Amino acid sequence: MPEVDTDGAIKAFITDAHAIVEQHGGNINDASLADIAHRMKEIAMWKNLEELADAARARGERLYSEPEGGFQLMLAHFPATTAVHTHGAWGVMAAHKGTEWYRQYVREDDGSKEGEARLKLVKEVRIEPGHVGWWYAPPNDIHQQVPDEGGAWELIMMSEPPASERLYFDVDHHTYVRDTPAARHYPAR
Ligand SMILES: [Fe+2]
Repeated sequence: MPEVDTDGAIKAFITDAHAIVEQHGGNINDASLADIAHRMKEIAMWKNLEELADAARARGERLYSEPEGGFQLMLAHFPATTAVHTHGAWGVMAAHKGTEWYRQYVREDDGSKEGEARLKLVKEVRIEPGHVGWWYAPPNDIHQQVPDEGGAWELIMMSEPPASERLYFDVDHHTYVRDTPAARHYPAR
């Protein structure tokens, strides 16, 4: 098998992701996000992706970070069901290893009451290697990962570095809190 220029392939994808947004008139919607996610699928299937992500992490980096807080590429591991949460950015994902249900939400309230939110589940998709998903720009950057036994690994591209403070929702009680991923991402911990 010929050696893949991984750095070059990642940079080409990031360039194409910008081009796709432009082709869609700058709109971040199902059409543009689906195109970016499908373009990213090939990288998500790389067998050495974990190795590359580990090496980047050891350098204190993501797989790729555009300067000035632009597009960010990372390999994420979901060992357990996450809380329903925001990122402060839009993003696309493509499965690398493992399987899960992926739930995407939007807000139905106008955001005027701090701590209160009504969410609508707009999509629940089965994610397995070869499948993709995405979430919208804030305030609709809301989703939840529900991995099967063994967890799931996903390649994720976000429009900017993830916010350190996120919103964590209680869907049934129409409430949310502001907190950090370390404190709230995995409710069972
Ligand atoms: Fe997330």
